[in-house]
Amino acid sequence: MSTPLLRVQGVTKKYGPNTVLNDVSFEIGKSEVVGLLGDNGAGKSTLVKIMSGVVDATAGEFFWDGTKIENINREKTEELGVETIFQDSALVPQMSITRNIFMGREITNKLGLMKIKEMDAITADVLDSVVTIEGIKSPKQLVSSLSGGQAQAVAIARAVHFKRSLLILDEPTSALAVRATEALLDYLRQLKGEGVSSVLVTHNLHHAYQVCDRHIVMNHGRKILDVRKEDTTVEELTAAVVGGAEGIRRYREGKK
Ligand SMILES: Nc1ncnc2c1ncn2[C@@H]1O[C@H](COP(=O)(O)OP(=O)(O)O)[C@@H](O)[C@H]1O
Ligand SMILES: [Mg+2]
Repeated sequence: MSTPLLRVQGVTKKYGPNTVLNDVSFEIGKSEVVGLLGDNGAGKSTLVKIMSGVVDATAGEFFWDGTKIENINREKTEELGVETIFQDSALVPQMSITRNIFMGREITNKLGLMKIKEMDAITADVLDSVVTIEGIKSPKQLVSSLSGGQAQAVAIARAVHFKRSLLILDEPTSALAVRATEALLDYLRQLKGEGVSSVLVTHNLHHAYQVCDRHIVMNHGRKILDVRKEDTTVEELTAAVVGGAEGIRRYREGKK
């Protein structure tokens, strides 16, 4: 097997007395789409934040393309080409869509002035191509004027524009309509064709099953299942998410 793009090893996260991640290890291959599944509170978002370098793990190691990276932080993951759509993605309501997308990464000229026209054009393009959201009139529109689904599309557009090697999506479709959701899932398949990996965190096991090559199920901070799509079913994933390790055992017993 080729060297994985990303490998996390023995990740543990404690908040005070609570262990929210317990010795979690897994890999993401190159051009692989991985589903990260589990009930509320399982630790998915915490894991996403650790992989993205915005939260420090209490213990654990991070390998990128086989090389161990110490002191992972957002600067480092940005350099590696990791982009994340966080579940609680913060947008600035009183700023335009374009300013939100390029926040902290503005395109400027030699004098340091922002190239607004160029950024507006890119914004219009990304919003149009990936999540075809109805009703966004202009990249200059203020985020405060957007619906929940439109705002989610902006958060998606931002990550999509800057991603280079790994796109992590934490419940990206919660506010999206069916058509926009399908467009996003199609896009993940397209990315795979372009050699970009993605991690899809979702409650919708049918979405995950439709698009992911492999599924990781979390339960109370532990990884309880890590299977390739061809070795599992939506029913087994459901049993794992709903019933934990015991659910998987019962499901497999029932199959015999
Ligand atoms: N900043 C924090 N401080 C304390 N506890 C936290 C913090 N973030 C998450 N947790 C706890 O960690 C557990 C896992 O949360 P989370 O990673 O958001 O799960 P999921 O995304 O799977 O729903 C929950 O019990 C949550 O309350
Ligand atoms: Mg979450």
